[in-house]
Amino acid sequence: MKADSAPLPTILVLASGSGTNLQALIDASRERGFPGEIIAVGCNTPGAFALERAAQANIKTFVVNHKSYGSREEFDGALMAEIRRLNPDLIVLAGFMRILTGDFVRAFRGQMLNVHPSLLPAYTGLNTHQRVLDAGDSKHGVSIHFVTEELDGGPVIAQAEVTVAKGDTADSLAERVQQQEHILYPIVVRWFCEGRIQLGTDGVLFDGELMSQPMRLPSN
Ligand code: GAR
Repeated sequence: MKADSAPLPTILVLASGSGTNLQALIDASRERGFPGEIIAVGCNTPGAFALERAAQANIKTFVVNHKSYGSREEFDGALMAEIRRLNPDLIVLAGFMRILTGDFVRAFRGQMLNVHPSLLPAYTGLNTHQRVLDAGDSKHGVSIHFVTEELDGGPVIAQAEVTVAKGDTADSLAERVQQQEHILYPIVVRWFCEGRIQLGTDGVLFDGELMSQPMRLPSN
């Protein structure tokens, strides 16, 4: 078989909300030569617009509603069963707003990416834009990282900076951070599918070399 007809790495996207990052990934994956295929989109929230975006793109969807389970472990078990059935090479968390158990995260070590709206390790958790404003920071941004058991604490692969402007609100900052997310996430997913990034024991390997710091998109 010719190398260019080998099956592409498969991607499963998990989302909870509007799915603008999912849309950026769908659009990128439609470009000629994109090295991966989005095979399914899973949501924990039945009405999420991300499901609509996936359906529009003819991508299979599934819902595992966290409200139907009595514990985090049961929910994660049900989600894991769905994912195992689809057996993707990569799981992309794109605004997936559930904290995952250690068992779940360990099961997919090195195969799961997350987008977080801050320059990690600063501002893990929620409400990052308001917290940046409250602290009077001049720089904000987005990080893409491998998911490990530490919440928003896995090794960072790439970041894009956003300059905080006078008069910024949490909403205006969120909008500019999201613009960067939509550029950066497809780039990182592409690297993963090309086999360029891996989670090593000491951090991220890029082309087989341990990265000393995250890749950075130019400031804007
Ligand atoms: C994104 O801005 C992402 O950074 C954030 O949720 C948003 C989802 O938007 N993720 C987190 O806060 C994870 N802790 P989207 O549904 O339009 O892609």
